[in-house]
Amino acid sequence: MPTLINEITVDGTAGSGTSSFTEALAAKLNELQNSRWSYLSSGSIYRALAWYMIEKCGCKLTDEDMPSLLTETLVKIAEAAIINQFTDGCVAMINDHLVTSEELALMGDQAKIVAALPGIREVVRRIQRSYVKAYGPCIIEGRDIGTVVFPNAPIKIWMDAALETRAGRRSQKEGRIVTPEELAERDAADYDREDCPMRQPDDAIVLDSTFTTVDELIELILLEDAFQDLLVPA
Ligand code: DC
Repeated sequence: MPTLINEITVDGTAGSGTSSFTEALAAKLNELQNSRWSYLSSGSIYRALAWYMIEKCGCKLTDEDMPSLLTETLVKIAEAAIINQFTDGCVAMINDHLVTSEELALMGDQAKIVAALPGIREVVRRIQRSYVKAYGPCIIEGRDIGTVVFPNAPIKIWMDAALETRAGRRSQKEGRIVTPEELAERDAADYDREDCPMRQPDDAIVLDSTFTTVDELIELILLEDAFQDLLVPA
């Protein structure tokens, strides 16, 4: 009998390729199992919140201490947000406003600020869990998914790659040069965040994507016992 599971978590450093991998893995499992795996990019939620604050509320998101009123507003916006991940990477936000992939791509620095604000992660956690409940089985990707959001997930994956490789990928995604130094700063923000810092889950399958394409990573992961069990014919 195939194993029945509701969530797979994919965590990893910025630019390690978690988003493309997650989307490709969902598509592959659907092809092989004739099932309906969905996926969720958690970074898109933080990016969409940042975009909404700037474009719709006219707020400035800066690295300096954010006024508590602004933080409260953001938490309220997040509480009312309806998240719906579409296959092209778009995320439906509050009031059904669609935030495009291009808009999301520009929000890297601002999302980092949103992700560290007090109170916001608790709300985003609720969004992530209710999304998986509504659209599961789901592959959910981020920084703290296997450690904090779904600590009991039956399959966890951790991805990393060399800093230079990741900086190159981020530059492509953001349409501007993201230097290795800038990316190292983002890593530090993710590792040092007080609330839910980025950590490799102890029980994760580890993938290094420095010299590997997404297709090769999918081939590799499907060889793992956990996936062999998942793919046993019914
Ligand atoms: O993966 P990404 O670059 O799209 O993430 C955008 C930001 O969101 C990044 O600063 C890290 C943050 N993030 C987070 O704090 N926790 C997650 N689970 C996912 C992303």
